Amino acid sequence: MTIAHAPGKIILVGEHAVVYGRPAIAVPVTQVQARVTVEEGEKEQGIVIVAKDLGRVFHVGQRESKSAASPLQATVVNVLTYLGLSLEQDLTIAVESSIPIARGLGSGAAVSTAMTRAVAEHFSKKLTAEEVSRLVYEVEKLHHGTASGIDNTVIAYERPVYFVRGERLETFPVGRPLSLVIADTGAESPTRIVVGAVRRAWEESKERYEALFDGVGDIAVKARWAIERGEVGQVGRLMDDNHRLLQDMGVSSSRLDALVRAARRHGALGAKLSGAGRGGNMIALVTAQTGEQVKHALEAEGADGVIQAEVEASKDLVPSPASSVVPEEEQ
Ligand code: PMV
Repeated sequence: MTIAHAPGKIILVGEHAVVYGRPAIAVPVTQVQARVTVEEGEKEQGIVIVAKDLGRVFHVGQRESKSAASPLQATVVNVLTYLGLSLEQDLTIAVESSIPIARGLGSGAAVSTAMTRAVAEHFSKKLTAEEVSRLVYEVEKLHHGTASGIDNTVIAYERPVYFVRGERLETFPVGRPLSLVIADTGAESPTRIVVGAVRRAWEESKERYEALFDGVGDIAVKARWAIERGEVGQVGRLMDDNHRLLQDMGVSSSRLDALVRAARRHGALGAKLSGAGRGGNMIALVTAQTGEQVKHALEAEGADGVIQAEVEASKDLVPSPASSVVPEEEQ
């Protein structure tokens, strides 16, 4: 039996604007994981996917059109085809995940990544992170047509990423560890719907939205600079600024705002919604001293699940050249 895993992810800054070409920063969240096993099946059973959390079984056949296939089926078809292997296999693929669905934690991309890895390893094929990311992006595009590619990238590479749509991936060093508290509003919020609403608003008021996206892009540049140098307080302030711009874009909600306020009141260095918004998760940047109290405050405020996550400091600490990321006023 072959087993592969993939972590969840969270966007630190830059969601929505990233769809319009501005930079965003995302980090893996290893406290939640997707896990996929692949084993030989019964003779003639074909490829059977057992989605344990969904309580569903899918068969992979030659007949589904690409658009009719579920993301799980599409993932298997894509990786087998890419590896030049036949779809006429007898395999049982079991999928489990502790990543909440449709909450901005990258559950779809993580399941797809774990599955791609497990299938490739089962056939003793090596895929690079870049290949895995590309294959998963194909599936992401199929099911949420406007995906920027940030989820598959951060999850396949399992490193903090500074992501600009269509450009070569940049990872960067983390100067001091970042402690995060991630709290769920309990409201499902399909990314496709919120991204569609932002698109319509952008079409109606292009100038206003372009200015908001520029503001967010600027925050992402400064946040990278601050993360690289371990300026954690500055990262928190930038998260607060980013939340205000997301409110102006119309993607926050009263639940998200209440959780963000509670986190700040109880000592968070900064807090914002994360992911598509309107529901899903918020994140707070905390310290060793404030982590527990922020977590309890979010629970008391009615959060539906709170995760504490840590982004480790890099051992190979080489901040990027000043010219590429230093905000003008710092030069
Ligand atoms: O909610 P998530 O994790 O799918 O994040 C969506 C992030 C957006 O920027 C709103 C969309 C995207 O594809 O980048």
